[in-house]
Amino acid sequence: MNGNLLTIAEMSTDEILEVLDVTDTMVEVNARRIPKVPALRGRTVVSLFYEDSTRTRLSFETAAKRLSADVMGFSVSTSSTKKGESVRDTVETIEAMGIDAVVVRHGSSGVPAQIARWSGASVINAGDGWHSHPTQGLLDAYTARSRLGSLEGVHVGIVGDIKHSRVARSGIEVFTALGAQVTLVAPPTLLPPNLEPWPVKVAHRLDDVIGDLDICYLLRMQRERMTEALVPSLREYTALYGLTSRRADRLRPDALVMHPGPMNRGVEIAGEVADRPNAVITDQVANGVAVRMAVLYLLLGPGRDALGEIPRDTTVEGSMPDTDTRAM
Ligand code: CP
Repeated sequence: MNGNLLTIAEMSTDEILEVLDVTDTMVEVNARRIPKVPALRGRTVVSLFYEDSTRTRLSFETAAKRLSADVMGFSVSTSSTKKGESVRDTVETIEAMGIDAVVVRHGSSGVPAQIARWSGASVINAGDGWHSHPTQGLLDAYTARSRLGSLEGVHVGIVGDIKHSRVARSGIEVFTALGAQVTLVAPPTLLPPNLEPWPVKVAHRLDDVIGDLDICYLLRMQRERMTEALVPSLREYTALYGLTSRRADRLRPDALVMHPGPMNRGVEIAGEVADRPNAVITDQVANGVAVRMAVLYLLLGPGRDALGEIPRDTTVEGSMPDTDTRAM
């Protein structure tokens, strides 16, 4: 990852697999009675969020704390950004306080890469414009691999607003890198004009592919990024592309339903479908903490070799506390 995590496209398949393998260890840490290890003690991680977030911000901050890093939170609404301070001056100000990593979300594509050029700290992209959301891609791949065993030959349908979706871009990159076949399902107005660089198929009707999918990955309609009406109405969108209860009944019994959140229940997914056993949306959130622990560990930690073996059964009541005594 060259000290930063900016896009999935910059990662080799081996690097992706390394994150997923280290995530297995972090899942075990998170299952402990005290889910905390001293791996990043003395390190400082700052979260710099210029756009709203619930899952990504909280899971990065939780991940850093579980690895014993110090965490600085930055909220645009209460910062000197409101007084006109630039991104560069903000980064230099925070860096002067002594930091090791910046987790950045911004509405403009390329801002994390720009910060990486200015900063000596590791930069982790937590979502930039329509461009990339690499940790979302990694947690999606981890969740799918955990359920299905492997992504080789798995058919993933990514459904909805592909055009405005950084989640779709990172998903296409990570799923295809791991051997999955991706079909984008959307009306032409919600697809980017040039699909040639992507090794994907396209379908314009969810009904044409629903019975053939191993994973039905639904995207949120990103109304905040749309500058024009790209679908006639949300009702018509739901009629053609929503995972309604009737459509969900046509999925293979073992097919997974995924969504990055936040969901528009009743638009891209029926509320009842989101709560079915094959919907792994809360697994995605839980795995997000472990994946982000793995990313922070690989960027800031003492190295993969120091990870050590962590016994599976570490949560027995009455045993010694399991922090600070292990290899991590
Ligand atoms: N999936 C995702 O990025 O969610 P948040 O916007 O809540 O972080």
